[in-house]
Amino acid sequence: MNRHAFLAGLHDVVRPRTYLETGVQIGQSLQLSRVPSIGIDPEFSITREIQADVQLARTSSDEFFARKDPLAHLPIPVVDLSFIDGMHLAEYALRDFLAVERFTTPASVVLFDDTLPLNVPMANRKRATTAWTGDVYKAAAALRELRPDLVVLDIDTTVTGTTLVLCPDASRDGVLDGYDDWLESAVTPDPQPVPQQILNRTNVVDPERVLASAGWSRLVQLRGSGSADAASIRAAFSDVLG
Ligand SMILES: C[S@@+](CC[C@H](N)C(=O)[O-])C[C@H]1O[C@@H](n2cnc3c(N)ncnc32)[C@H](O)[C@@H]1O
Repeated sequence: MNRHAFLAGLHDVVRPRTYLETGVQIGQSLQLSRVPSIGIDPEFSITREIQADVQLARTSSDEFFARKDPLAHLPIPVVDLSFIDGMHLAEYALRDFLAVERFTTPASVVLFDDTLPLNVPMANRKRATTAWTGDVYKAAAALRELRPDLVVLDIDTTVTGTTLVLCPDASRDGVLDGYDDWLESAVTPDPQPVPQQILNRTNVVDPERVLASAGWSRLVQLRGSGSADAASIRAAFSDVLG
């Protein structure tokens, strides 16, 4: 299953009230949304038919989230489903997550694109290949290490993988303890030290299995009743998390 099919599946199962993506490009991912949406990209050039009420922000995600009321376009100040696919450098992707997280509930769902590079050149910070993941894989690793409260699942989507994050915590207010030390160790000259388990996809989850989880209907129910918390969301996905 490719990333767009997986994202389409997430739209089906999450039934989001709102959607936000960083990195719009020609609108291939944005065209999947049918709900009030925000798309952020300094250089989008949309060729796809968009069927959602969308604010297209022609700017960087950093500038967008620095605005006073960035989600003013949405009917509620909450992002239920988010796709992070902007600048393919770890610190940008991580900042996008932390910025979006400020506007989540525990039932919100965030998907990173391009977290499973197929080879080391593809993961270069300085783009050298047609298909480019950059070192976004490090953002997922940082969340796994520094935020054990999150559920962070690498998904075996083609071509270059995705990472699903559950149980976001808006009360963190965009702050990641340990960020400065992480940044210092993460920003290194090419080639990047892509772990073998990433290249081999050793710890990935099958996308069909994730979408088939009984957890999604429970997540929607918990979100509707306003009673979602990290423990209840984790419990809902026990069929995937074990
Ligand atoms: C891989 S493309 C996005 C593809 C799209 N999400 C899809 O699946 O069809 C990455 C996009 O990120 C945009 N981008 C680069 N830097 C960005 C930034 N700082 N903030 C937001 N978008 C950025 C680029 O202009 C490019 O269009």
